[in-house]
Amino acid sequence: RVVDVKHALSGAIAPGSKVRINGWVRTRRDSKAGLSFVSLSDGSCFDPIQVVAPAALANYESEVLHLTAGCAISAEGELVASQGKGQAFEVQASSLSVLGWVDDPETYPIQPKPHSPEFLREVAHLRPRTNLFGAVSRVRHTIAQAIHRYFDEHGYFWVNTPIITTSDTEGAGEMFRVSTLDLMNLPRTDKGAVDFRKDFFGKEAFLTVSGQLNVEAYCLALSKVYTFGPTFRAENSHTTRHLAEFWMVEPEIAFADLAEDARVAEEFLKFIFRMVLAERPDDMAFFAERVEKTAISRLESIIASPFAQIDYTDAVEILKKSGRKFDYAVEWGADLQTEHERFLTEEYVGGPVVVKNYPEKIKAFYMRLNDDGRTVAAMDVLAPGIGEIIGGSQREERLDILDRRIAQFGLDPKMYSWYRDFRRYGTVPHAGFGLGFERLVVYVCGLANIRDAIPYPRVPGSAEF
Ligand code: 4AD
Ligand code: MG
Repeated sequence: RVVDVKHALSGAIAPGSKVRINGWVRTRRDSKAGLSFVSLSDGSCFDPIQVVAPAALANYESEVLHLTAGCAISAEGELVASQGKGQAFEVQASSLSVLGWVDDPETYPIQPKPHSPEFLREVAHLRPRTNLFGAVSRVRHTIAQAIHRYFDEHGYFWVNTPIITTSDTEGAGEMFRVSTLDLMNLPRTDKGAVDFRKDFFGKEAFLTVSGQLNVEAYCLALSKVYTFGPTFRAENSHTTRHLAEFWMVEPEIAFADLAEDARVAEEFLKFIFRMVLAERPDDMAFFAERVEKTAISRLESIIASPFAQIDYTDAVEILKKSGRKFDYAVEWGADLQTEHERFLTEEYVGGPVVVKNYPEKIKAFYMRLNDDGRTVAAMDVLAPGIGEIIGGSQREERLDILDRRIAQFGLDPKMYSWYRDFRRYGTVPHAGFGLGFERLVVYVCGLANIRDAIPYPRVPGSAEF
């Protein structure tokens, strides 16, 4: 019977059982006693399993002694308690067949030694075979499962919002244009030049920066909804926390205000952290040991205490009084920069901080204007080491004020006529937020660079693989 490594190591299979195990060789060690120890991984869990291949195997000299890192094999034998250190079970092989050799072992990029993340980005198609990317991939999966589980358990429906769109939700003008490749039929202007603005079959279209406006429509019918999918930002950012293509989770809650929005964000993050710690202890232990020593302890401490909440106006005062020399001046009305966020989370609070009620001028048009007339009911959840992981707000549900803000931001009201309809037909207070999925993966795994939190990172000028 074929079993995966995770199952074989779990203790659930009676010692002495016959099993078949498939996987990729990590290392091979030959003992003088005429035995080879092959460390075999199939990615089902962090640990590889040891396959003991005796010299008596028919292909011992011809094949087993030629196995190198990366070879794919299928081994059959008895699962037994291991004498060796570090593993509870091993397979005593009675047969071992090679499914795939490694062409050129000398140049195979994934050698059994530590590789730098920078090097591994250049072999993004092979890096899932390393301990690091195996662990990141499994944790990323579990975080996604936790997201769906949290929402399902709390009565939210998953809504799939479009990737091709005309709305610039965040109003930042940082969108990728969508075009056809029908070279013979490219749309032309009167003067005969190619008119890229009409290149989506005669219309202009872009890749979405956020599913929010679309998901609001479903919120105002199903009450609690979320969207979870790829989003795109054409900002020319070369940082450790920006991607041109990233996944975003955006819940939208009817009859909710900003306080409820912040409460949900906190409960949601804690739910995810608890589930990852419970379901991925082996991968998390690896991160704590090899990547970031506080990987586990900081999640535990976040789960244990309430998030700090600070008004933007107070945050500005705190930063001014800090006595710190910041590169960017702190001034009421200016957006908080990374260095300011880091001070608030890492030094002032020592944990996550929810900053609320930002100046209306620096936030998106759809955010609800507060009674003071100069701030909006927005919140950002900032985490130590990474800064903003969640951005959210209560939405402007009053049509007259929404119209004023659309005009104020210089947006074309015709483009937003469908969005205005929600305010015309049964408008209600509602709120939501967006979580950057990769930023959360970075935070949970303790990674230094967001390019290692997604299988194929897309950053300016790089779309290889
Ligand atoms: O703050 P943002 O731009 O908010 C929105 O898009 C809202 N429509 C969300 C909502 O209220 N439904 O983006 C939300 C989050 C950020 O907090 C950040 O974590 C992540 O998305 N994010 C990025 N992640 C990786 N690379 C980028 N270039 C990102 N830009 C934003
Ligand atoms: Mg934001």
